[in-house]
Amino acid sequence: MVQTDQKHLIEVAGSFQNGEITTELSFDELRKLVLDDIKITIVKNAVPAELAAKLRDAVWAWNQKTPLSEADDFVSNKHRHRCLVSKLQQSPYLFHDHTFDNFGELDEEFRSIMLSVYEPLRKFWNNLTQHNIEFAQHPVPSGTPYFHPQITHYPVGGSFFGRHWHDLAPQYVGIILSLSKYGVDYSSGSNTNFEIDGEIVRTEGHHDIGDMTLFRYDVPHWISHSDAAEKFDWYNKRGRWVAILPIYDPWAVPTEHMAKGPQPAK
Ligand SMILES: [Fe+2]
Repeated sequence: MVQTDQKHLIEVAGSFQNGEITTELSFDELRKLVLDDIKITIVKNAVPAELAAKLRDAVWAWNQKTPLSEADDFVSNKHRHRCLVSKLQQSPYLFHDHTFDNFGELDEEFRSIMLSVYEPLRKFWNNLTQHNIEFAQHPVPSGTPYFHPQITHYPVGGSFFGRHWHDLAPQYVGIILSLSKYGVDYSSGSNTNFEIDGEIVRTEGHHDIGDMTLFRYDVPHWISHSDAAEKFDWYNKRGRWVAILPIYDPWAVPTEHMAKGPQPAK
């Protein structure tokens, strides 16, 4: 375990074997570090870099042949250009979102690549938080929350996600898996920043391809502008790609799953 030069940022060594992600810490130690000590924790090499790049390339190939959607229905596979200021969240954002709620509709090769990363992520989160959440079943069983896999592309040229926070439950721990190589696929920005005890925690330079950032879900966070000096183009693959694993609970109130507006710092 490495204490970085930032008080609230810790790095731990990760391992990926037989489809299981583990770290040098036990799940109990890791849960305490993230939830009780409120440390932003980067699991280094949680997933092999080649596998992370393979997933990113497969998602790009899929979006090239799949029409853009206007809205997410939480039961199928969608991708959208998202650019607005949320009325509820008061949080501006600009990114290309891909959501997968029906793996069965994907072709076999793409589904296999998707599950080779997402099933380890799903198991890891369940082990860490001591839950047993599944991906979406069809039809969706009444009253059952499920994972809503999202792959987000922050194209170079200024894409970002403004400061926001989430309810702690039912997610508890947020997971962000990097699918892009720092200094190669993008040069700067599009990394997550957090605010803890009034201090800004910056993950740029720490969170590289295959690494997984873990954070307590109610800590305010935002994504800095990606390579703002470059030309923005929705159809430029360059930029930063991340895989995240939010829980979606259609029966929760309110149903807005993504975020809430500005909140005092933790
Ligand atoms: Fe968030």
